Amino acid sequence: MATAAPSDHSDFTVTPVSPALGAQVVGLDVSRPLDPSTLAVLRDAFQDHHMLCFRDQRLDDDQQVAFSTQFGPLELFPEKDKTKGKIEVYNVANVSPEGEHLAQDDQRVIFQRNNGRWHTDSSYRYIPSLASIMYGVEVLPDDSEGGETGFSNMLAAYAALPDDKKVQLEPLHQVHSYADIRRLEPTMPPMTAAERDALPPVTHPVVRVHPERDYRRSLYFTANTSLEIGGMTHEDGKALHRWLVDYVNKPEFCYFHRWQPGDLVMWDNRVLLHRAIPYDYARYRRVLRRTTVAGAGPIMGPFWPEARKAAGG
Ligand code: OGA
Ligand code: MN
Repeated sequence: MATAAPSDHSDFTVTPVSPALGAQVVGLDVSRPLDPSTLAVLRDAFQDHHMLCFRDQRLDDDQQVAFSTQFGPLELFPEKDKTKGKIEVYNVANVSPEGEHLAQDDQRVIFQRNNGRWHTDSSYRYIPSLASIMYGVEVLPDDSEGGETGFSNMLAAYAALPDDKKVQLEPLHQVHSYADIRRLEPTMPPMTAAERDALPPVTHPVVRVHPERDYRRSLYFTANTSLEIGGMTHEDGKALHRWLVDYVNKPEFCYFHRWQPGDLVMWDNRVLLHRAIPYDYARYRRVLRRTTVAGAGPIMGPFWPEARKAAGG
């Protein structure tokens, strides 16, 4: 868990923002390539805090892509109409790339609403993403309601589960399907057959282990690609899913980031869930740009041979 003291790296500081997760980085300009020692400090801070907010940045899309690729290859976003110029840059906005404030029933705004459900990015891929990196271009005024990005720490959430829940969840999987976003948001136009074919449904264990953390366990589920856990009746799977969604809202797991222009927020999709807090879409403009660092391998569950070996079994 994070310590409260800032750490000083002569030119920049890393300061925890909550007991649950997150740190802010002040005094570093990330628009230029980072030297290896700075990158090493940031990688360690990312591993420890799970979310880093770099304050006061000035970035164009190329600079955001260049910053992001220092952490690994980037994913390409599945639907071109939700990107901005480059297929690596997802336009997280109720404003078109040309600057037009979109109508509330525009499918790109509905897609933003779906981001309001707890999730982790690219869970619909066999190899989900490692990190998402989001830049604040236009954000809500200080006196408005909503518009934060909420995060919940799944390492802490797993550790605090009652024992009977740990036993119940251990063998379970969830189906994650990009096309199922349309089941949750039925007014969105259908995907093309080619788009659907590129992203068939996948399953992931609900309890995952982390090889880079001594096989420590965390919860892994989403509420934006399906609303049920598998391996039981539909009714029971829905009820268990509802229990999990409710459980991860506990304040001791969560941090809600209130955006300032120029924030660059990078989060670990392996150990955090996140969600957009709804706001008045008609009244306020909100423009964020996201790049996504690809994951290194499939989600490992407790029954993988490596995980069993690490557990002494
Ligand atoms: C996303 C996302 C949250 C937000 O773009 O993946 O979940 O606050 N965004 O907009
Ligand atoms: Mn997301």
